[in-house]
Amino acid sequence: MTTTLLTDIGLLVTNDPTLGTGPTGELTDAAVIIDGGRVAWIGAAVDAATAIAELGLGPLSDIDKQSAGGACVIPGFVDSHSHVVFGGDRAAEFEARMAGRTYEAGGIRSTVAATRAASDEELRARLYGFVDEMLAQGTTTLEIKSGYGLSVESEERLVRLASEVTDEVTFLGAHVVPAEFASREGGADEYVELVTGPMLEACAPHAKWIDVFCETGAFSVEQSRRVLEAGITAGLKPRVHASQLGPGDGVRLAIELGAASVDHCTYLSDEDVAALAASSTVATLLPGVEFSTRQPYPSGRRLLDAGVTVAIACDTNPGSSFTSSMPFCIAVAVRDMGMTPAEALWAATAGGAVALERADVGRLMPGTRADLVQLKTPGYVHLAYRPGVPLVQRVWKDGTLVVG
Ligand code: NIG
Ligand code: FE
Repeated sequence: MTTTLLTDIGLLVTNDPTLGTGPTGELTDAAVIIDGGRVAWIGAAVDAATAIAELGLGPLSDIDKQSAGGACVIPGFVDSHSHVVFGGDRAAEFEARMAGRTYEAGGIRSTVAATRAASDEELRARLYGFVDEMLAQGTTTLEIKSGYGLSVESEERLVRLASEVTDEVTFLGAHVVPAEFASREGGADEYVELVTGPMLEACAPHAKWIDVFCETGAFSVEQSRRVLEAGITAGLKPRVHASQLGPGDGVRLAIELGAASVDHCTYLSDEDVAALAASSTVATLLPGVEFSTRQPYPSGRRLLDAGVTVAIACDTNPGSSFTSSMPFCIAVAVRDMGMTPAEALWAATAGGAVALERADVGRLMPGTRADLVQLKTPGYVHLAYRPGVPLVQRVWKDGTLVVG
């Protein structure tokens, strides 16, 4: 495998405070040496030739030398929340919402019908298209949830397809109660039996995570607990959708069960914030959701000031947030959630990695995966300052140039 020297980096964000300034570990006039798909060295550009010799990676003439031309280089984005295996779309629902209709969890059922009707090939083509779209926007690690199948065979299909493109697969059979169960008395509890029994058994081999939509209109706290505990028993790790449409006890349940992350957090009480701060559970904010549903933005500032670990993710899905752009989500987090550009960038990289319990991504330091994004700009503030503009110049994934 080639050794690469990426030099002339005007501003390098490592997210390792021991390598550079501030929590984002920033260096100027920097260089990165990549070897075997991993970061081998980081330091001042003037010291790179010596480092190559000392690491025994020379001669310099054999090294693939790349110049960032003075631009900013950041870790690849870690998008810890997406739902990108589905059929159809819900443009008409979005249009109606922009005309005043409110977002409701029940809209999920129309995507379930379209997903069940789609072939493997259709779903796969769509999925791979989203992955490419995200890579082009700098996302190098992606979590993908099931949740638009809601039958044993359909959920198994979704986690299986997701596992073709990522190790971060989440079984979300408890996304909503499907129409055929919702229409009869006691149907919701029967559906929970299915999710925690045969569906879990079929899906667990393809998944790392178990998730539940703990919300009025989806699953109660008691039902959510049953789902998460069954998943944990089957060897999956818990993460939770909570407090998206209103306040509730889902955040506290997530913390109690040691969830890696609780996602949405749109309506948090002071007690929720204090409990998050005292826990190791990440609060994952999804700026695209409030943008696209016209719900109030949660305050990232409030969480950060309380000492909560915050991640930002896109939540790409056809209902509540049909953006796949982490730069867009960073821009909204800065503009509307009170986060600084540095905090938002950290949340979209290192924060996402913590939410996925990954130490090998989201930061650039010797030993981490060489997932790097070269921007077209001298700094990362431009991610918020130039919203909607494609600012990603080149992307390396595991040390291989995949974009640019
Ligand atoms: O994360 N909240 C639940 N699930 C998705 C929305 C799904 C949909 O509307 O289709 C979310 O926002
Ligand atoms: Fe979601």
